[in-house]
Amino acid sequence: MDTHIPTRAEAFDLLKEYTRDDGLIKHALAVEAVMRYFADKCGEDKGKWGVIGLIHDLDYEKFPEQHCGKTEEILKDHNWPEDYIRAVLSHGWGICTDVEPKNKMEKVLYAIDELTGLIVATALVRPSKSILDMEAKSVKKKWKDKSFAAGVDRAVIQKGAEMLDIELDELFTDTIMGMRQVADQLGLQGADSSA
Ligand SMILES: [Fe+2]
Ligand SMILES: [Fe+2]
Repeated sequence: MDTHIPTRAEAFDLLKEYTRDDGLIKHALAVEAVMRYFADKCGEDKGKWGVIGLIHDLDYEKFPEQHCGKTEEILKDHNWPEDYIRAVLSHGWGICTDVEPKNKMEKVLYAIDELTGLIVATALVRPSKSILDMEAKSVKKKWKDKSFAAGVDRAVIQKGAEMLDIELDELFTDTIMGMRQVADQLGLQGADSSA
């Protein structure tokens, strides 16, 4: 079978086939939304960037020890295009792959993956528990507190911002803006509106 362009529905079905954990699904939806936001901002293909964001941690639940490697196998089996697979692998650069982010799409994925986790954690300790009224300065405060969400690798995010040649403030703001698009699906639309 030839490679074909995977649709969003196909990508989501595949993700759900390999992922039961609600937190991982939410992470995938957050990264998808941010990728779409950046694609829009850069005048690039939102569908493509979104699908790559959605699928990037496909193997994480079932094969945590083979993270990225298993995804490569699965996506090849599903005849995904080479550039989609490369982009997905590049998010694990220096951690579980040696695929360096080269193009804009890859650099954005690399920069925002861990950052979405810091933003979720920051939103959840706010009185409103919402990202709809949260701004970059809240994230900046938590960024400096290394014991807060200690699992979030600040060095990766910093490196991503450098690759993109943007300030952390801008990266934080754009990532928040992207995540706001799916605040309800992430459970981050605030305590009042979730009732
Ligand atoms: Fe990952
Ligand atoms: Fe991820």
